[in-house]
Amino acid sequence: MKEMSRKNQYFTDSVIRRMTRIALANNAINLSQGYPDFDPPKAITDRLAEISAIGPHQYPITMGAPNFRRALAKKCGHFMGREIDPETEEVVTIGSTEAMVDTIFALTNPGDKIVMFSPYFENYYAQTLMAGCEPVFVPLVPPQYNFDPNVLEDALRMPETKALILCNPSNPSGKVFTMQELTIIADLCKKYDVFVITDEPYEHIVYEGHKHIYMNSLPGMWERTVSLSSLSKTYSITGWRLGYAIAPEPLMKRVKQYHDFNAVGAPAPLMEAAVVGLEMPDSYYKEFGDHYAHMKKIFTDGLKDIGIPFTDPQGTYFILADIGPFMKKGQTDTEFCEELIRKVGVACVPGSSFFREDVRNIVRIHFAKKDETLYDALNRLADIKKKMC
Ligand SMILES: Cc1ncc(COP(=O)(O)O)c(C=O)c1O
Repeated sequence: MKEMSRKNQYFTDSVIRRMTRIALANNAINLSQGYPDFDPPKAITDRLAEISAIGPHQYPITMGAPNFRRALAKKCGHFMGREIDPETEEVVTIGSTEAMVDTIFALTNPGDKIVMFSPYFENYYAQTLMAGCEPVFVPLVPPQYNFDPNVLEDALRMPETKALILCNPSNPSGKVFTMQELTIIADLCKKYDVFVITDEPYEHIVYEGHKHIYMNSLPGMWERTVSLSSLSKTYSITGWRLGYAIAPEPLMKRVKQYHDFNAVGAPAPLMEAAVVGLEMPDSYYKEFGDHYAHMKKIFTDGLKDIGIPFTDPQGTYFILADIGPFMKKGQTDTEFCEELIRKVGVACVPGSSFFREDVRNIVRIHFAKKDETLYDALNRLADIKKKMC
């Protein structure tokens, strides 16, 4: 047989999703892959029941059902503070995951460099390589996860640098970029003529004292930004696989072309039912944020009581915890996580799958779970020292 593609030689399967499989096989509480164990809003699932009887069940309009796009433009326009044209400035995708693939293909050529902050969401690395591009990493330094503007400038200055991926609020660090940081990033991207691809699925999960600011709302940034997001987290429907890209028409035209051939369209009945979510009033997002603050408090109070050091997230539902005190000599973080699943019954993700730097004592744990699941996980973790050391 002829040689298969070589592009995959620098990435494995997703470690996050692998941890889910190991967790399921061992009956562990799965705090690795980030998805809730509570139900989506009832109004959305009720609408899905209606739609199952009346349709649509056939191919959707490729760029997204018109009523979905109208509702999306209204909702996003409201939060982004600008008018969005549902015909020319949006596309509905199979999660933010497909939107990222479409966008990278639309903006880059093989050999281009794509800058991303590290720790990074692991999809970006594989997606960059799949497009024949080269990832360039700018460290977010623990425990504050700040970056050095000079290091960022060095990365953006390279002539091959085409785009910067900005995950905000950031998975896995929980960082919410401030206006001052966004301004530094924006100014450098304008200076070196670099596109920005934002990935913002946690835009509504931001904790007290922090504020999510959309990069495309900064002066001169709308023109060079493709904003990606998702319904997965905001409406607790990660399995529905609904996401989108928003960008000015000249960029969007290209993104749409890739969507057309990568996906044909997003799931028609699910788009139809999810319109109810997009039309929720502001109070929905307030209650949603309050619920996450409640889960975060349960979980972080518990970790403090047990004595597991961690960085308090500013947004998202992820925590980076320091497992250094519980690791055996010579043990890798992946070995630690696998042993934790077997001995303690809790699954998390080894930090090495997010960090480019040599950081081997950190794991990512998520807390998008019912109160009882969080208490159960904390009870199991209470014995971590005895069981792991
Ligand atoms: C930062 C980030 N981007 C994208 C995704 C994938 O989102 P979607 O379900 O919309 O494909 C996730 C899911 O965990 C994520 O954390």
